[in-house]
Amino acid sequence: MYPRSFADSDGDGLGDLPGITSRVPHLAALGVDAVWLSPFYPSALADGGYDVDDHRDVDPRIGTLAQFDDLVAALHAHGIRVVVDIVPNHSSDRHRWFREALAAGPGSPERARYVFRRGLGADGERPPSDWRAVFGGPAWEPVGDGDWYLHLFAPEQPDWNWDHPEVREDFLTTLRFWSDRGVDGFRIDVAHALTKDLSEPLPTQAELDAGTLVDGRHPYEDRDAVHEVYRAWRAVFEEYDPPRTAVAEAWVPAHRRARYASPEGLGQAFNFDLLMDDPDAGQFRRTVEENLALARESGTSSTWVLSNHDVVRHATRYALPAGTDLQAWLLRGGTDPAPDVERGLRLARAATALVLALPGSTYLYQGEELGLPEVADLDAADLQDPTWVRSQGTEKGRDGCRVPLPWSASGPALGFGDGSPHLPQPAWFADYAVERQEGEATSTLALYRRAIALRARLQSPETLEWADDVPAGVVQFRRPGGWTSVTNLGTSPVPLPAGRVVLSSGPQTEDQLALLTELPGETTAWLVTPST
Ligand code: NOJ
Repeated sequence: MYPRSFADSDGDGLGDLPGITSRVPHLAALGVDAVWLSPFYPSALADGGYDVDDHRDVDPRIGTLAQFDDLVAALHAHGIRVVVDIVPNHSSDRHRWFREALAAGPGSPERARYVFRRGLGADGERPPSDWRAVFGGPAWEPVGDGDWYLHLFAPEQPDWNWDHPEVREDFLTTLRFWSDRGVDGFRIDVAHALTKDLSEPLPTQAELDAGTLVDGRHPYEDRDAVHEVYRAWRAVFEEYDPPRTAVAEAWVPAHRRARYASPEGLGQAFNFDLLMDDPDAGQFRRTVEENLALARESGTSSTWVLSNHDVVRHATRYALPAGTDLQAWLLRGGTDPAPDVERGLRLARAATALVLALPGSTYLYQGEELGLPEVADLDAADLQDPTWVRSQGTEKGRDGCRVPLPWSASGPALGFGDGSPHLPQPAWFADYAVERQEGEATSTLALYRRAIALRARLQSPETLEWADDVPAGVVQFRRPGGWTSVTNLGTSPVPLPAGRVVLSSGPQTEDQLALLTELPGETTAWLVTPST
């Protein structure tokens, strides 16, 4: 959940914690096991809240700690667990320790908590290296006294120095702070980049890009030392009953992911492989096979993601020809090529039903349960993502998936709240409103509810058996207990395997399911075999 865009209780145009609390019945009806809240901490919103001023408080525009406790209580009352985001690679430039660091000057103990470096040249007028930040532009920022600080993301996000014991201790305090308030788990932002080796000479950006590094050592990506940090965190998680859980956002090669997901570490790691795939049977099957094998090796369960607050929504990705450069397409206003909206939704529903049939944890992103497409034509003046400015207008960024949700088909901000929403909703959002889809047996919301409810019954144990003798374009597997998931990614119908159809991403009503004799194109069905 991206809290600023979920529900706004006080009409200031920004979603807030009481807004979420008021919508807990929606989450309960959806059937989710847990809610992951992206950052709601005090922040200037230089990066949608991932620029954290104070990790142990709530942004006053979003609520209070007491309102956070109310939200946790409301979710727990429905058996829904709570996961909060921990942002350990960087703070914001308004964090107390960063302000102290700036005031204290070069060489001070205050600067040692961050990654400050002397600039090159007689007066330190040149950056310590030519590294580029993820959002574009240089990764070093001068502070006017010959020192520069490292920010792998926006300049408002100075990187912490994880060699500093106070930094390590402070994050343990943060983990306990939220665990003591009843939080069940944590999503760890940029989990692969905390520990750094900045010994001289620093490699050049070209060497980083080409991977031609001394001994193959990357100065900040996926260094082994980061796992010491997570072993210490695991000890904190185990102080609680039940132990707290965590999931790493670690952009590392698949074979390195298990280290983050290990039971001695964070316990689980996102894989974004499905999110990168085209809706293609071969790609989907390969990705699933590989990730299930990796999860088995590391003694964890796999994760699946099709959409999140950082990417173009999957209903839109699948509406475009494979290989479309999405950022270039957004820059063109989202019309060239024209998205095939119906096909995108059909494929998105089929893909979601496929992943909900898999063993492991599926992470859904708010609004996908409504089949929401990306808002591709936001005006430049409305954009908030630092990517837009930092890339000098060559990448529009991630705002199109962060437009506030439509709850009703009419009224102020389509039920999001009484004020003008912080990102404008297009008129067509009304067609996707929760209110429209409630009680509508063929809606995307009904599909998600049914799939999630069935999944809870069909889920364990976490094994899967592939069907190999299937038509081209079909992904089919059996789960224990005699149920089968079959996805037809081709456009022509294929025969259905044996069994009673209990769910389809296409025809949805009981009557339609009973009459289904073949599987339409771009559709997933779940079947239960007579032996069960
Ligand atoms: C990943 C988060 O999901 C993204 O929204 C953020 O911009 C970066 N990490 C930096 O914190």
